[in-house]
Amino acid sequence: MDMRRFLLWARGEGMLREVEGAVDPHLELARLMSGLDGKPLLVPQLSGYPGWRVVSGVCAQREHFAAALGCGVGELIPRMAEALERPKIPPLVDQGPCQAVIAAPDLSGLPIPRYHPDDGGPYITAGVAVVKDPRLGRNISFHRLMRLDERRFAARIVEGRGTHTALTRGGADLPVAIVVGAPIQVLLAAAMSPDQHVDELSIAHALAPIDLVSCHTVDLEVPADAELILEGRITQAVACEGPFPDLTGTMDRVREQPVIEVDHITHRCDPVFHALLPAGMEHKNLMGMPREPTIFSEVNRVCNCTGVYVTPGGMSWLHAVVRIDKRRADDGRRAIEAAFRGHSSLKHVVVVDGDVDVYDSGDVEWAIATRFQADRDLVVLRDQPSSSLDPSASQLPGEKARTAKMGLDATIAMGERRSDYERVSYGSIETAAHGAED
Ligand SMILES: Cc1cc2nc3c(=O)[nH]c(=O)nc-3n(C[C@H](O)[C@H](O)[C@H](O)COP(=O)(O)O)c2cc1C
Repeated sequence: MDMRRFLLWARGEGMLREVEGAVDPHLELARLMSGLDGKPLLVPQLSGYPGWRVVSGVCAQREHFAAALGCGVGELIPRMAEALERPKIPPLVDQGPCQAVIAAPDLSGLPIPRYHPDDGGPYITAGVAVVKDPRLGRNISFHRLMRLDERRFAARIVEGRGTHTALTRGGADLPVAIVVGAPIQVLLAAAMSPDQHVDELSIAHALAPIDLVSCHTVDLEVPADAELILEGRITQAVACEGPFPDLTGTMDRVREQPVIEVDHITHRCDPVFHALLPAGMEHKNLMGMPREPTIFSEVNRVCNCTGVYVTPGGMSWLHAVVRIDKRRADDGRRAIEAAFRGHSSLKHVVVVDGDVDVYDSGDVEWAIATRFQADRDLVVLRDQPSSSLDPSASQLPGEKARTAKMGLDATIAMGERRSDYERVSYGSIETAAHGAED
């Protein structure tokens, strides 16, 4: 589902918030996005950037992904797992809307927002970088991009991942295409971390069909229905990147990061710029959701897993709830260990029975309150590799962060009488018929 179809769908569903009048991409836009976090937003005009519109909140709810993939919310995990297992190469077509207009290669003409007064500069936050690794092939992933001047960005490129591996292998400039306003299935695939030789554009095509077009100046392919394409090179030069808000909602520090030089810009007619609020729901969903199928697969190896939710309260990264169909006494404990294997940055996990709604934190807490005994059901793992995003983890320069991990088995203990643990039901009644509508 490309941005245009998403906007039509969200408007049709009555979800789209459309503001009136022009909004300033310098700070004002971010305040609006923050105030409406969780909802799709269309800004029809931007002060200083005639002809551009801004969309945000594209990935802010699971329903949006379900609509893009043509499935129910409950089917998202199996659909992601299936696409990860069986990627499909997308077709290459001769032309696409993303190349309808060739613009001057001048980044000051793009409505790149500044989100926070302390930011190092204006930032592209929903840019998906396409590169080709000479050995491993095509790779796509998100990289936040801080505009340095009319032609250059400083790009946050985390060490050891696909883009970084490709950049360090050649020792020379690495051709790159940055896709802004990518179809939703491309955004989701870009946030996944399959084995490095797996092409995430093929995962996107397996999630929902896409077409690709060849770039004009680099030997790379991009989604034909994207809004904006920046073609250029990731150079061996570095510049200061940051500060900028991280997933945690706290300021990330300044680092020396690779410089990208932009040589060629194309976009759709009447282009829509996708802005993603750092630490907002869109950021959280894109981080957490792709970990759910990997946790699901690992837990399924040891017992029957029926649901996984990487919860927004844990920054959609550090906490998960796993639902199992418990058959053996130690299934809960085995599910905890498997969940940590399925997402190595996971810090705390709660395992629940099939009658608990993983998306309802009150229901999960009820299961902990009524089914969990700390001296019997708690798993604590000491000194584990962890996420650099956790400020309480021990972080030594140049080394992977370390943390303690905790799993709570909040399933009904084997041998207990189930009915003692089940919620009573009062049956349903038509409240409106009694003049007491909800
Ligand atoms: C919204 C969003 C923003 C991200 N920003 C960055 C970033 O600035 N730098 C980075 O290296 N990874 C970033 N990531 C993570 C990468 O996209 C993610 O690790 C990707 O799955 C890596 O893929 P790869 O292992 O195939 O390279 C971001 C992810 C999301 C969802």
